[in-house]
Amino acid sequence: MIPDRHGSEKGEGATAVKQENFSYRLWRYDGAPGELIPLLQSAQDHFGYIPRRAITYISGVTGIPESEVYGVITFYSQFRLQPMGKYVVRACAGTACHVSGAKMIIDTIEDELGVEVGETTNDGLFTLFTVACIGCCSLAPVMMINDSTHGRLTPASLRKLLREYRRSEERSAGESTPVDGQSEVPE
Ligand code: FES
Repeated sequence: MIPDRHGSEKGEGATAVKQENFSYRLWRYDGAPGELIPLLQSAQDHFGYIPRRAITYISGVTGIPESEVYGVITFYSQFRLQPMGKYVVRACAGTACHVSGAKMIIDTIEDELGVEVGETTNDGLFTLFTVACIGCCSLAPVMMINDSTHGRLTPASLRKLLREYRRSEERSAGESTPVDGQSEVPE
């Protein structure tokens, strides 16, 4: 639920604080140019992404047309229009990984998950991003799934890995990730 501009909706803990920050920014908005970015950051901080209803709400308060708000969101890569998946896949597209087949790896991830870079799977499990370098170039090609690093990937090994995550999730929905401990990075 979108909080009202007077911050009347109260909650508990960090969520409430973020929500109040979002409301507070909207409430004190005085039409000054440059406020849109902080408002969007505040909305994303609260919701985890910027939902359509937040765009409508911000547009209503600021008077900035929704199309313009949407244009700003899509211009800056920091903003997301979809919620993050439970597992954030970061495929490395840095130089070492690039020469070791990163494009094929990224194409395979997209095919396996049915999403493109920047998107979240329909079941909300995976969000795919690319990154410049993870810092494990000797293990190229590399990707991270949340905090676990997986290197020397092949299309077959990464499909197997992603399916393990899915199966694990199906077995114990809502529990911690058993495969998270299978990092291929040496201690
Ligand atoms: S370039 Fe991929 S880990 Fe460094």
